[in-house]
Amino acid sequence: MLGPIIRSVSRAILVGSTMWSTWAFAEVSVTIHSEKPGATINKNIYGQFAEHLGRGIYEGIWVGPKSKIPNTRGFRNDVIGALKELKVPLIRWPGGCFADEYHWRNGIGPRKDRPVTVNASWGNVTDDNAFGTHEFFELAEMLGSDVYINGNLGTGTPQEMAEWLEYMTSPSQSTLANLRRKNGREEPWKVHFFAIGNESWGCGGNMTPEYYTHLYKHYATFLKTPEDNRPELIASGGYENLTEWTEALMKNVPQTWSLRMNGIGHHYYTLPRGNWEKKGVAIGFPEEEWLSTFANTIKIEDYIKSNVAIMDQHDPEKKVGFYVDEWGTWYDAAEGDNPAFLYQQNTLRDALLAGLNFNIFHKYADRVRMTNIAQMVNVLQAMILTDKEKMLLTPTYHVFKMYIPFQQATHLPADIAGNLNYTLGETSIPQVSVSAAKTTDGRTVLALINVHPNEAVDVAVKGTWKQGEGQLLTAEKMDSHNTFTNKNAVQPQPFKAVKRGDQLVAALPAKSMVVIELK
Ligand code: AHR
Repeated sequence: MLGPIIRSVSRAILVGSTMWSTWAFAEVSVTIHSEKPGATINKNIYGQFAEHLGRGIYEGIWVGPKSKIPNTRGFRNDVIGALKELKVPLIRWPGGCFADEYHWRNGIGPRKDRPVTVNASWGNVTDDNAFGTHEFFELAEMLGSDVYINGNLGTGTPQEMAEWLEYMTSPSQSTLANLRRKNGREEPWKVHFFAIGNESWGCGGNMTPEYYTHLYKHYATFLKTPEDNRPELIASGGYENLTEWTEALMKNVPQTWSLRMNGIGHHYYTLPRGNWEKKGVAIGFPEEEWLSTFANTIKIEDYIKSNVAIMDQHDPEKKVGFYVDEWGTWYDAAEGDNPAFLYQQNTLRDALLAGLNFNIFHKYADRVRMTNIAQMVNVLQAMILTDKEKMLLTPTYHVFKMYIPFQQATHLPADIAGNLNYTLGETSIPQVSVSAAKTTDGRTVLALINVHPNEAVDVAVKGTWKQGEGQLLTAEKMDSHNTFTNKNAVQPQPFKAVKRGDQLVAALPAKSMVVIELK
């Protein structure tokens, strides 16, 4: 705590001021450029991902109509109720790696007749296919979300993929459209996004970018849907710092009457130690890993920049989106858990990390028009954790809720003057992260994050702002988290910026974030 005191006192000597004005001085300031509005922050930046993986769908979302857990037609009421409040704009399904082994016909028709298959991607557990295409669309309808379906390139055929789209979107009297009707859905569904394969560099087939690019063109040619129901077609892109997937796709997939590519799906997971063998733990981590997790997560800005630079050369009009369709934290599996289920605790660290990512995505909103956090329930950086009939909301859930005003808002560039560094050993990152926007109903919102675990920071908001009110998220410890017996250890609380002289100051506690509306 000595740092800010020393800095403030020395400033008081410099300006020869009173003790009161020493504390009034905020050395970090933010200027919001309302006069230079940027791109729309597409609501789909707040998209989510639900895969057949561990307890992500079965138990987490779907318990079946006969379950003792209170449910509506098989969907658990507590989880659906909580997700409704998040205004989830988009859900990606059924994978992930699982998508390249999923055969859609297994998941339609009377549930008792559906085959039991093995989930070879995630622990070889059986899947009774009770959750299939109709259930997915019902989930999306309950939540008011758009849909993103990931097609099977790895073990499927162009025919199987094209027929899935026909089943979902055809208004005709074809046998497939009538099968959909027989299975309970008269009208075609709207499919907003459709991906051709997933992680084709790895679990999706271990392909090279060149080989995949040929396959993309082959498959995409046959994905025909009615004119008024054309999903955005998404190519499987690279990961982390890779740019060669973006390069190969942008160079070699022309946009013609019979071929299109509307987006490239890039993946980036944040590992505290940056090492897939020893990723780092979810709770009980040292301060070094608090910092290294944030230092690793903000690398995504460089990865976005380098990929976007390539896209700009080939597509200056920014027609093709750069979609981060998997992102979030990935920790070592907790002892006792099936490591294939990717279940992990979620702490204040995850919350601040989600905010840091949003603040970056907003800056590139003209190209990054969709992202999906991995994943929705019980898997990786989840919004919700369940244990049979019990449910809790994670710190990440609260951040998604705090950021709702940013959905479809106009990005307003914001500069930080005098930003401090948070340093430990050899690693150093900016202490404060900022993002501002004008909401669809004309309000100005500001998000501020203080990543320093021990030092508070005062941030002055420059301009004529008189008030700033909203919510603060912080907690006692770096790894504070919610449990089934203490569900509210980390939860937002009301927050007000204070007027000090002619400055509006947001006094950010150590390890905290705020989203406020400015007036
Ligand atoms: O989100 C878990 C897995 O991570 C996905 O199935 C895969 O695409 C990625 O490797």
